[in-house]
Amino acid sequence: QSASLAATPPMGWNSWNHFADKVTGADVRATADILVSTGMKNAGYIYVNIDDTWQGERDAQGMLHANSKFPDMKALADYVHSKGLKIGIYSSPGPKTCAGYAGSYQHEEQDAQLYASWGIDYLKYDLCSFGDILKKEANGDRQKYFDLEKAAYDKMHKALLATGRPIVFSLCQYGFQNVWEWGPSVGGNLWRTTGDINDTYDRMSVIGFAQSGLEKYAGPGHWNDPDMLEVGNGGMTADEYRTHMTLWVMLAAPLLAGNDLSKMTPETLATLTNRQVIAVDQDKLGKQGHRVSAVGPLEIWEKPLSGGAKAVALFNRGESASPITLSLKDVAFSSGAKLHDLWSDQDVSASSGSYTALVPSHGAVLLKVSK
Ligand code: DGJ
Repeated sequence: QSASLAATPPMGWNSWNHFADKVTGADVRATADILVSTGMKNAGYIYVNIDDTWQGERDAQGMLHANSKFPDMKALADYVHSKGLKIGIYSSPGPKTCAGYAGSYQHEEQDAQLYASWGIDYLKYDLCSFGDILKKEANGDRQKYFDLEKAAYDKMHKALLATGRPIVFSLCQYGFQNVWEWGPSVGGNLWRTTGDINDTYDRMSVIGFAQSGLEKYAGPGHWNDPDMLEVGNGGMTADEYRTHMTLWVMLAAPLLAGNDLSKMTPETLATLTNRQVIAVDQDKLGKQGHRVSAVGPLEIWEKPLSGGAKAVALFNRGESASPITLSLKDVAFSSGAKLHDLWSDQDVSASSGSYTALVPSHGAVLLKVSK
């Protein structure tokens, strides 16, 4: 896939985190409507991605059909496109998906052509049962396992290319075998770096804070994917969800909302759509951020932005509120630098060469620092 696909980290929505195996075509249509009516589309949330459990059976010609919850995929895709949005779908290189539905094993070209005929713009390709095939065929030979796995992703990539339709290719094999080193060579526009997120501060933060060090593998057209957003699903506090969003934008992560948009609170919408926060994620330089310092539970991260600016995040992973002091020299700025707090949209002063913020427990402050 060309670098013009996913030139910045993909943004949109995915059905899995909230709907899981309950998702229907009607939910997808409603989501498309709400992306437009709430302004999420204008904030950049473009992809409407159907995850696992849309599949029905293959017919005598091997052609896959959607199940009864998705009565007309082509019409659904047309509807999503009519809203100025794009549509994504999901499969596995194995015979079965993780939820036990039909995968693309030995039907890769046929499935790619089918997606293209529907007008699909994005494919998430989830290892699932292909892991069992790999174990059997590799029979303990790690190099063989690895080569076969890469070949399976490459096969689907070539099948997608052969359709002539630009389709974002999302690799989902949970970050094994240093996928960030070979993801681009099999056409990956993004690759999961970890196992599944869930709607808890513990899981979200274990994933997010472990991503420092992978920054050199991310860039326009090819991104590390620490998994989809849980913002608004109810298991975290408002501060924790702002931390989730802050970490993900610092990581130049794909921003795929995973909540039920039809029941979103104004607070959830505000967390998902803060323009200045999103601009950090979508900065055209395409640099992923990294940790600058960690003192106990207090961390400072930086992310280079275009125009010589930086995003700087102050994270308090501790159990009580705490001041965090940023020394401008630690992020390579001098005392004349300008600081803007992006969540509160306020200039703050660092005239003495440092800035101290009181950061709530599990909270974050996100600053833009410029000359
Ligand atoms: C495992 C993936 O990591 C999840 O994101 C989701 O796609 C499920 N499989 C679906 O079965």
